[in-house]
Amino acid sequence: MKFPEKITLKEVGPRDGLQNEKTFISTEDKVEWINMLSDTGLSYVEITSFVHPKWIPALADAVDVAKKIKRNKEITYAALVPNEKGLYRALEADIDEVAVFMSASETHNQKNINKSIDDTFNVLRHVVHEAKASGKTTRGYVSTVFGCPYEKAVSIDQVIKISDNLFEMGIDELSLGDTIGVGNPAQVQRILEELLKRFPANQLAMHFHDTRGTAIANILASLDMGITKFDSAVGGLGGCPYAPGASGNVATEDLLYMLNEMQVETGINLDRLLQAAQWVEKKVGRSLPSRNLQVAKASTNQECNRKGD
Ligand code: HMG
Ligand code: MG
Repeated sequence: MKFPEKITLKEVGPRDGLQNEKTFISTEDKVEWINMLSDTGLSYVEITSFVHPKWIPALADAVDVAKKIKRNKEITYAALVPNEKGLYRALEADIDEVAVFMSASETHNQKNINKSIDDTFNVLRHVVHEAKASGKTTRGYVSTVFGCPYEKAVSIDQVIKISDNLFEMGIDELSLGDTIGVGNPAQVQRILEELLKRFPANQLAMHFHDTRGTAIANILASLDMGITKFDSAVGGLGGCPYAPGASGNVATEDLLYMLNEMQVETGINLDRLLQAAQWVEKKVGRSLPSRNLQVAKASTNQECNRKGD
């Protein structure tokens, strides 16, 4: 296998991570957490989503969050935008990068954004055009690339069709989503072989949910194919409320631990990231799936016990 010297991790915890949480995290806590993430060495944080607040109540405070965080000029602060109304809110909040999203499968697209795929093209074309005219960079997500919770198998042709359309609109980068965490490394190879015939590796990112424990294996397969951008969420938070069975993204700290050990550079400090993970775990009020977070907690407990002896 071949690995690059340096890669970029795109932190999606404040958006993908929180959108499915039952406990509402206050605006002040979101801001404090994003500020902590800004101090870890991350260069990209997806901080919120300008979708309809009734569809995603957990992120109803998107404008406030974006306005209140401390901005580091070295970091790109991105957010999801589903339509023109969302774009106005995102521009008001002065987001750096606009991320549009749609699915490769018709049923998930309909359930998630209440439109057919063809109608979504018309909406997003306008959003990407307006975002670019306002000087923003743009990212496109294709969801259900590796499988759909409603339709099961998704054809590579369908993924190519959506990707072609999003690039034709003018997006700067495409993120390929395994929304429900069903993908495997052989499938990663098959899909990327086709996509890399059309688009350069540096315009592709991979977005793996770890529902079945295959995310890290899928990332290794992607690295071997020359991909250098990966989405991940601190703590292994994440999930889409409109994709039954979707659970957390690959945990940023699990990925970072592996990359550090492999001498693949990211610029991110693992200790600081773990502090941000422990902090948010307390706020969401449940044990998060990240392995390295559990290791860090166990060693903190041992330390406390030793001091207590
Ligand atoms: P809709 O009900 O069809 O919207 O929802 P509409 O255009 O018919 O408008 C209805 C009303 O909503 C109007 O208000 C609009 O102004 C308002 P009224 O005139 O009745 O008073 N409205 C809005 N208000 C605030 N912000 C907006 C907005 N848009 C319309 N942006 C819509 C369509 C797309 C808005 C809705 O379906 C929605 O918000 N869906 C988002 C669902 C979502 O966020 N899913 C999770 C993110 S995707 C994901 O997780 C996958 C990813 O991680 C990759 C992967 O894992 O594969 C990215
Ligand atoms: Mg996702």
